[in-house]
Amino acid sequence: MTELTFSIIKPDAVERGLVGDILKMIADSGLKIKAMKMLRLTKAQAEGFYAVHKERPFFGELVKYMVSGPVVVSVLEADNAVERYRGLMGATDPAKAAEGTIRKRFGLNIQNNACHGSDGPATAATEVAYFFNQLEMVG
Ligand code: CMP
Repeated sequence: MTELTFSIIKPDAVERGLVGDILKMIADSGLKIKAMKMLRLTKAQAEGFYAVHKERPFFGELVKYMVSGPVVVSVLEADNAVERYRGLMGATDPAKAAEGTIRKRFGLNIQNNACHGSDGPATAATEVAYFFNQLEMVG
């Protein structure tokens, strides 16, 4: 079934010039880009986006990292887009990610792990709506 998921190319990956490489991996995996933009998150936006993690010990560092430079956010579409993109990203910790995944190739550590993807269809709907309105879904 055609599904949407939400992606962030994180500040460490943008800073290292990896946007093109990661978008190519996304396209090659059969995910279609429906919407995309580059922006710099505010502290409030980053805290809101990751609110589910606010009690976790890494929350403060995560927010600092996510506002440290521009990110590229996008909406991806495919059959089973959520699972397809999670498979392409690999495990949260790049050291545990499978060969050929984005995080294995480009992730630096469990925090600076190059990309974010929604963990389920309901989260995807919330995350897409956090960054995009219907008029921006042009792809
Ligand atoms: P992401 O998939 O965007 O979801 C939450 C983010 O928190 C995660 O990727 C990492 O960037 C960051 N993070 C930092 N430490 C941890 C940790 N110990 N476990 C999970 N996520 C972590």
